[in-house]
Amino acid sequence: MCGIVGYVGKQKVVPILVDGLKRLEYRGYDSAGLALLQDGEMVIYRSVGKIKELENLLWGKDHSGHIGVGHTRWATHGRPTEENAHPHTDCSGSLVVVHNGIIETYLPLKEKLRQEGHHFKSDTDTEVIAHLIEKYLEGDLEGAVRRALQEVVGAYAIGVLWKGDPQRIVGARCGSPLVVGLGQGEFFLASDIPAILNHTRNVLFLDEEEMAVLSPEGVHVTNLQGEPVAKEVQKVLWSPILAEKGGYKHFMLKEIYEQPRGVRDTIRGRFSEETGRIYLEGMEAVEEDLRRARRIYIVACGTSWHAALVGKFILEECSRIPVEVDYGSEFRYRDPLLGEEALVLVISQSGETMDSLAALRESKRRGSKVLSICNVVGSSISRESHAVIYTHAGPEIGVASTKAFTSQLAALYLFSLYLGQLRGQISPDKARAMLQDLVRAPQLLEQVLRQDEELDRLSHLFYTKGDFLYLGRGINYPLALEGALKLKEISYIHAEGYPAGEMKHGPIALIDEDMPVVVLAPKDKFYEKILGNIQEVKARDGIVIAFASEDDEEIADRVDHLFTIPKTSHLLTPLLLAIPMQLLAYYIAVRKGCDVDQPRNLAKSVTVE
Ligand code: AGP
Repeated sequence: MCGIVGYVGKQKVVPILVDGLKRLEYRGYDSAGLALLQDGEMVIYRSVGKIKELENLLWGKDHSGHIGVGHTRWATHGRPTEENAHPHTDCSGSLVVVHNGIIETYLPLKEKLRQEGHHFKSDTDTEVIAHLIEKYLEGDLEGAVRRALQEVVGAYAIGVLWKGDPQRIVGARCGSPLVVGLGQGEFFLASDIPAILNHTRNVLFLDEEEMAVLSPEGVHVTNLQGEPVAKEVQKVLWSPILAEKGGYKHFMLKEIYEQPRGVRDTIRGRFSEETGRIYLEGMEAVEEDLRRARRIYIVACGTSWHAALVGKFILEECSRIPVEVDYGSEFRYRDPLLGEEALVLVISQSGETMDSLAALRESKRRGSKVLSICNVVGSSISRESHAVIYTHAGPEIGVASTKAFTSQLAALYLFSLYLGQLRGQISPDKARAMLQDLVRAPQLLEQVLRQDEELDRLSHLFYTKGDFLYLGRGINYPLALEGALKLKEISYIHAEGYPAGEMKHGPIALIDEDMPVVVLAPKDKFYEKILGNIQEVKARDGIVIAFASEDDEEIADRVDHLFTIPKTSHLLTPLLLAIPMQLLAYYIAVRKGCDVDQPRNLAKSVTVE
């Protein structure tokens, strides 16, 4: 996700835009820019890196302009470069656009506009919007924006400024947030409240497919058909720091709640429900290697390694290719048997984890093609891979990985479907059915999030415990590991995840009346066996906290605490189980007074061996 700001009023616009962008830096910070009208001319500044770089560009320049737009970027299409930084312009350079979101149909639109004579300067999807508006601009900016957006499919929150209409900014949203701030004779546009809280607490929130036109005289809101829309002005009572977290107490909780959107954005524009086809940019570079591969190695660390373990199950079921999973810190030292018939997939949220990057380089040295799943465009791992599948989870600020993990699972599901079809293992009908399951997943995640308060209450019973055991089977066993990792890394309580069937080979000795045991028990082919494991724990006075399917009517009286998740395919059950694992760890850590967003001894990206 990115951050956009806009201002029109009586103050000098540049300091307001820069301050607003700095308060939105948590939404993305790989490049930034702003545009203002100064003495009738459009003046644009863009820089790579954090807002500080933009400030350096502006240093010593005194602009008297009173209207402008700004942007801080989290790259999704096109690497973090100055050419790809926003604002983007039309051919004439007299119209600028800043954008947060993903335009699914940007490639065909770009091709059509090129054929109509438009010339493009960037690799971004956003620039297409600027040229579309230019195409329809005949003096009426608002009308041209409206016509352009009617041709666009995807998510957007935009700010548009045109030299030919020097007193107005047009904003519009569909799928990405946009708020309007109401001052005294001055008006603000922003992706999020923190950008404008210093200037006004009176805001109105645009809803889907609504447009706002800001001028010194005021704001008017319409829908995409041009019909006026009455909006209620709301008073924001948050503190600025709370506002930066979207009203959540911690970034981690905000990011747990962003997971439905992260999954939606990761899958957006990458499949056709009608044909069952999957579209993954850049796969042509490795398509032959994918056809030829006789083995796949997935390499990752930490939570991404847990995603890799889930990926093994999905990939093997869909493609029938043997998959091995390795820790990044181990892989390069074990003399892996690589070569052109072994494909390596590196999974990394940051794209900078040294162990995973070293594994990538060793794989290439040994003659294997490398694919990666990354959340940061232009990161080292993404740049050094032969092909990349980007997750679109947006910047993950909390050290404990949450939304990146579920977005990785969504990307693995898509890639498995792609590979299964490429290798003739999945029919179009099967693919369409599997895509229907995937499309429903975000709303099922939203349903699971509603257990938030129950898990908060449960944490009250267990936050003083010293040890936890997490058990799961099959594709859900990696979620037992992930639940244990989440707990230990933010609450400092020791926890271990195990395959439930492994308990009798040792861990069962740990069970006593003081040992909480989290059991992942969805109605799948392991259900009866898991019930047996629950019985083994209860027979030793262990405390069982079970996560089962919502239609399960027999487990309730066999466990001490029961939570349920909606039914979905066995391949997507791990995606739903991730949220209760995260919330249980979060609430226990909060009750213990731990620094949830920045746990002791940890870093968000481990760029050392
Ligand atoms: C997960 O909660 C941890 N913060 C950590 O294990 C992390 O997953 C690991 O360091 C890998 O990071 P990456 O995904 O950026 O490569």
